Amino acid sequence: VILTQDELKKIAAYKAVEYVESGMVLGLGTGSTAKHAVDRIGELLSQGKLKNIIGIPTSKKTHEQAVSLGIPLSDLDSHPVVDLAIDGADEVDPHMNLVKGRGGSLLREKMVEGACKKFVVIVDETKLVKYVGASGLAMPVEIIPFCWKFTAIRLQKLFEYAGCSAKLRTSGENGDPFVTDNGNYIVDLYFKQDMGDLRAASDAILQLAGVVEHGMFLDMATTVIVAGELGVKVTDK
Ligand code: A5P
Repeated sequence: VILTQDELKKIAAYKAVEYVESGMVLGLGTGSTAKHAVDRIGELLSQGKLKNIIGIPTSKKTHEQAVSLGIPLSDLDSHPVVDLAIDGADEVDPHMNLVKGRGGSLLREKMVEGACKKFVVIVDETKLVKYVGASGLAMPVEIIPFCWKFTAIRLQKLFEYAGCSAKLRTSGENGDPFVTDNGNYIVDLYFKQDMGDLRAASDAILQLAGVVEHGMFLDMATTVIVAGELGVKVTDK
């Protein structure tokens, strides 16, 4: 049987939900893979197989999904310690570093997942890369709208050595800027080569005034669940 990419995402998501126990405060991820996990948590709650779950959504979209499933919700102000978060990723490198934010929710994801005791990442095997940027997909940076071109150019210049190009993310037909849940813009960085030291790259990006956060999640994942044609592989840190 050849499984579709969406079926693989669902397999990884269901596997991750096996880590959920009654009474947990749960970070609820965003995206097409995390959606399956949130659905499954809602299902187990309605069947009474899970009890007393408190969800902390990582986006407005996941908030809506969780409300529709009847999952009780809270936030980091009330629940600063999160037991477990489950979320997808756009890229996973061999050291379990991630790129996230194709869906634009990187900032809230990083806040919630940074507050977690355990962070389980769920992907299908197409997300595995040799180095960050290798998939040819964007590494997103959330920036303040004020003089966004100035910030985009500065970001691109930081990574000239890696053949970086910076593009403002747009939405809709008229090319209006995409606006995040936090009212900011996103600049997508594309790399022709490996940018090298990710921690140094992260520091350099975050030092620029106008930058809010970037989509590299370094040393945050505690478990990666990869679903592929040949089965599910679970790797713990
Ligand atoms: C949302 O901003 C992202 O970080 C998603 O978690 C990531 O893009 C993975 O999405 P998919 O599961 O839809 O591929």
